[in-house]
Amino acid sequence: MDGNGRWATQRGLPRGAGHRMGVEAIRRTAEAAPDLGIGTLTLFAFASDNWKRPETEVVGLMRLLKAYLRSETGRLARTGTRLTVFGRRDRLPAGIPEAIERAEAATAAGTKLSLRIAVDYSSRDAILAAAAGLGPEASREDLDRALRDDVGGPGDVDLLIRTGGEKRLSDFLLWEAAYAELHFTDRMWPDFGEADLAAAVADFARRDRRFGGLKPVPVAA
Ligand code: IPE
Ligand code: MG
Repeated sequence: MDGNGRWATQRGLPRGAGHRMGVEAIRRTAEAAPDLGIGTLTLFAFASDNWKRPETEVVGLMRLLKAYLRSETGRLARTGTRLTVFGRRDRLPAGIPEAIERAEAATAAGTKLSLRIAVDYSSRDAILAAAAGLGPEASREDLDRALRDDVGGPGDVDLLIRTGGEKRLSDFLLWEAAYAELHFTDRMWPDFGEADLAAAVADFARRDRRFGGLKPVPVAA
């Protein structure tokens, strides 16, 4: 989810206003996902590298996260959305880990959509932490499992969307996105909605996914 700050600046608003509007985009996107055939929606909300931002912005983002968890849990439970948060929890401000646990518990029965939000997440750190617990004979599947268990990661990513015009992965799901189809859009995150998600899914459907193999040769009847 990129472009909140620029969205606000372009309108002469403080960056925090963009982050607040970004929450609306999360709501729209999560609600549109199941009808587009999406079972798991993973959002990058706060990167471990985002701690480098000015303290006022970081504090504002953490407040927003807390408010989101408090105000959205009921709606998520009602719409069958299971919320899980992954990333480090030991550096989050007091009260936030508890709020995450409450939201996860209250939405645990949801089966319509798995909504995963990355907070204080770094893919490199996650891979390092998962690999540290494995022996020299470990397989790809072992690391895959460790990344899911330790960090609650989503597993293989089919489609990776980045908004806001940047074309990079910025330490997001590097292992899991090995064969992800990449979709970049100039849309700023606060403007993102159902039509943009549908366009990304349509783009994805046109891709020829070979996973390193060859396209099967059509067999004559
Ligand atoms: C949202 O957009 C991403 C977060 C870290 C919350 P940005 O804050 O990166 O917005 P831009 O890139 O400055 O426009
Ligand atoms: Mg940005």
